[in-house]
Amino acid sequence: MAERYLDFDEIIDRYNTNSVKYDLKEDMGYPEDALAMWVADMDFKSSSYIEDALERCIKHGVYVYGFASESYVNAVLAWMRKHHNWIAKSEWLVKAPGVVFAIAAAIRAYTNPGDAVLIQEPVYYPFKNEIVANERKTVINNLLYENGKYSIDFEDFENKIINENVKLFILCSPHNPVGRVWKKKELERLGNICKEHEVIIVSDEIHHDLIFEGEHTVFTNVNKDFEDFSIICTAPSKTFNLAGLCASNVFIPNQKLRNKYKEEMSKVSANVNILGLAACEAAYSKGETWYNAMMKYVKANIDFTKEFVKGIPGVKMVKTEGTYLIWLDFKELGLEKAELENLIKNKAKLWLDGGGMFGEAGIGFQRINAACPRSILEEALKRLKMAVEEIKKTA
Ligand SMILES: Cc1ncc(COP(=O)(O)O)c(C=O)c1O
Repeated sequence: MAERYLDFDEIIDRYNTNSVKYDLKEDMGYPEDALAMWVADMDFKSSSYIEDALERCIKHGVYVYGFASESYVNAVLAWMRKHHNWIAKSEWLVKAPGVVFAIAAAIRAYTNPGDAVLIQEPVYYPFKNEIVANERKTVINNLLYENGKYSIDFEDFENKIINENVKLFILCSPHNPVGRVWKKKELERLGNICKEHEVIIVSDEIHHDLIFEGEHTVFTNVNKDFEDFSIICTAPSKTFNLAGLCASNVFIPNQKLRNKYKEEMSKVSANVNILGLAACEAAYSKGETWYNAMMKYVKANIDFTKEFVKGIPGVKMVKTEGTYLIWLDFKELGLEKAELENLIKNKAKLWLDGGGMFGEAGIGFQRINAACPRSILEEALKRLKMAVEEIKKTA
């Protein structure tokens, strides 16, 4: 049977589905008519092969304890081999209900309370939340932002590692929210510094399939030596829009690190979700047509945004190499943080992720999600343009 869900223009009513993106609008104080373009999920129906697999499970009617079967593991490994040129071994794979869950477990497994954990802001905010919630110390190596482009401040990275006695580094690759797909050379330099100073790397590669420019390199593919001290976090959730099914795949090549991680996981006794297993296996083994079509559509959305934003005075779009999240720079408008939030929320009537959520370095930016029907994206950008032009007039 052919793939049935390839109409990405379709507007799907997502209200009253227990969706944080839509159903928390009122609770979060957003106007009723605000467009929800914040959290990283897509407004698209996922592959019909996933629906079929889930339907089979649901019709079975027995929703019990599950495990990652051989066919599941083979499907995951085959996807990694084909899409990332990565020969991961089955014994490296550890299931987790989510990537954030896995990152929190890694923090507890490999560091002690009070130990320093490094992140590169602006970055996906749960990294810091988990460091703080687990009573570790956050060390920030801000990304450099020059001429509208982000890069890594390697000197500061190494100095912070030495001076703060950093034990663990959470890498975001590709990087949410700034959209960088790190070059192999950049990853190599990070890895070499961590190797020299015995820093464990948790590489969050959840956006690894969403590459629009450049090439994603799995961290352990940069250099085999990196397998000794790296944990690679993956999931089908961003690629196939499955976040609610809690099915992540964590790879830990080093046996000692893997055992430590498993020990930590056993303390919280996390079950796997059998619907998540079925969806992930179907996605990786049969979702290719959907994936390719989705990528084409989202790429066109990103290009559309790039052109549109050129016509919004004082707003710049940072180049999106990866992820479906677009990072917009409003600094030229010279607004205070609260003024910018007010502009977005109450004037443009948009629910975006304010840049400050991603750290101090994100202030003056907003993140907009481009994985939605083009008509919604266009409406959002029109609202943004009107709101900005309005304040420009009154300034
Ligand atoms: C970089 C990054 N890591 C992790 C997650 C969430 O992962 P999970 O839902 O598996 O916890 C997201 C979601 O937006 C993300 O952008």
